[in-house]
Amino acid sequence: MNISFCCTNTPPEPWLVGLRAALPGAQVLVWQPGDAPADVAVVWMPPQAFWDAQPRLRAIFNIGAGVDALMAQRLPRGARIVRLDDAGMAVQMAEYVCHAVIAYFREWAAIDHDIRAGIWRAREPEARADWPVGVMGLGVLGERVARALQTFEFPVNGWSLSPKAIEGVRGFVGAEALPDFLAQTRVLVNLLPLTPATENILNRDTLSRLRPGAFVINVARGRHLVDEDLLALLASGHVAGATLDVCRTEPLPSDHPFWRHPQIRLTPHTSARTLVVDTIAQITRKIAAVERGEAVVGEVNAQRGY
Ligand code: NAP
Ligand code: GLV
Repeated sequence: MNISFCCTNTPPEPWLVGLRAALPGAQVLVWQPGDAPADVAVVWMPPQAFWDAQPRLRAIFNIGAGVDALMAQRLPRGARIVRLDDAGMAVQMAEYVCHAVIAYFREWAAIDHDIRAGIWRAREPEARADWPVGVMGLGVLGERVARALQTFEFPVNGWSLSPKAIEGVRGFVGAEALPDFLAQTRVLVNLLPLTPATENILNRDTLSRLRPGAFVINVARGRHLVDEDLLALLASGHVAGATLDVCRTEPLPSDHPFWRHPQIRLTPHTSARTLVVDTIAQITRKIAAVERGEAVVGEVNAQRGY
């Protein structure tokens, strides 16, 4: 089996070493123009020229959870597309989101501000019941985040396309339930895939439906959020703060107002990183399943786009 590795955001060496060790019968190469077509591709945002040179791929392994960039390309027909299913990302996402929610709930920024000003002032504890967290997307990552938030006893609601049964999480299903879900949310966590149905979903209309003084945590994709609408709602006070791990253009352009906005905390797309060892172990198992013609968890449905 020939495996072609074409990932634009990561040094290839650890991947080559790991894949060759895990799949000793395979030839694993970093793709170069002119290479013979491969049987299996391991990719992150490859150039279109890569796909145009792959007429006989059996499977495409995306080394991330989100496949929005892949879905925007012209892919070879007939190849099964498999995304990462957790592979060590869910626990990272849970710690990132819990950290952000707790920082808002415990007023860390205001305490820091007091301390820098030499003020020793304890704040009155707030009632957790006034801090319902709404998780958009109850998939692999959203479910883990919802469960982690429950351990801190926040009320947790979730929104998804199909009904879920996650103990203690009140589920809201489909577009018609979105206004209700938003109206009950004090902290909104976005963990949706980016698809035509979810692009720009965090906009003036939806964010205005959140409880006054809401917080927004976007850890999915920058194109879910209409930047100007968030800025307007921050200015009006309806949204009190936002934690953004993702931006429409990455890196964020140097003149973008998010960089220095006092109510926005930015991180450089680091909430859940791809882990080489875990990912190679998962891909190795799935290559074997694909070769046996079996179903694999994380297979992308190209029609729905995730
Ligand atoms: P997943 O398992 O596919 O879960 C997606 C969830 O979104 C599912 O619950 C799905 O509903 C729901 N959904 C999809 N379209 C919807 C719609 N139109 N309306 C309502 N719900 C909808 O994906 P995942 O592994 O949890 O990853 C989620 C996203 O996180 C990725 O796509 C990626 O963009 C982002 N991500 C970001 C980072 C980072 O570092 N910032 C890292 C990893 C992933 P059903 O369950 O009913 O299908
Ligand atoms: C990262 O953003 C991913 O989709 O894995």
